Amino acid sequence: MSMNRTVVNIIIDLIATVLFLGMLATGYLLRFPLPPGSNKSRVLWGLSRHEWGDVHFWISVGLMVVLVVHLALHWNWVVTVIGKRCGLVKSPHPSLIRSAIWVVGVFAAMCIGFGWLAERDVMQVERPRRGYQAGRQTIEQRQPPLSKATETPTGHLLWDDVYPIFQQHCVACHGPDKQWAEFRADQRQDFFKSAAPLILPGQSSKSPLMAIISGTRDDMPMAESHRLADADAAVIKAWIEQGAQ
Ligand code: HEC
Repeated sequence: MSMNRTVVNIIIDLIATVLFLGMLATGYLLRFPLPPGSNKSRVLWGLSRHEWGDVHFWISVGLMVVLVVHLALHWNWVVTVIGKRCGLVKSPHPSLIRSAIWVVGVFAAMCIGFGWLAERDVMQVERPRRGYQAGRQTIEQRQPPLSKATETPTGHLLWDDVYPIFQQHCVACHGPDKQWAEFRADQRQDFFKSAAPLILPGQSSKSPLMAIISGTRDDMPMAESHRLADADAAVIKAWIEQGAQ
């Protein structure tokens, strides 16, 4: 009997260790190779960030179940040694069942309270949060705007004035070397393709390009690579408003 018990304990502890390592590993995946915001643009071993998040969650549920089993197997010891030492148990022959009911009750109340609080405080935000993590560096801090002007520029803007922005932020993926989406940002006419123009001269708010570079298009692949600093977006907006010549 005691031998059996020892073997069971070892198996339970082994399972707990494996699950704990699984939590660490999936936590690492969610933090580094698949960081927040990469759900639509990255896949690892066939699963997206979202699906790895599910794996992480279910491993943590499994770990909790195993911990409960572990505690149950040691309940006698928990009650007599820990309970007495903390002054929670006074009787010389405490009832294991009663103490277990108490602990489960307190734990359930904590879970329900937490769930209720989270449900009550969750908020809908008007515009999706941007940046790698709220409260960290903003895009503007990461990539200083190219143009010297910080407010909307005034003079008449031409292609040569806006091209440096595209050159710095777009041409690596849409230029001579790579042409993602068969689009080249170094060829002015590619912005005005008749089938699906990115720019409607004089109508910046209707130009699909503005939604892409300001981050408001929500189905945009690799949105983070497409969002420009506000000052750069303002220059391009002004250029479109002035006729995009
Ligand atoms: C890090 C690489 C990268 C950078 C930088 C980049 N893009 Fe892209 N772009 C992509 C990829 C990848 C796609 C998606 C291709 C696909 O879906 O097949 C894409 C798609 C597009 C599309 C097509 C969108 C659609 O409707 O499918 C446009 C337009 C575009 N990019 C414009 C830009 C502009 C303008 C910039 C600069 C502000 C830029 N890109 C910067 C990689 C990049």
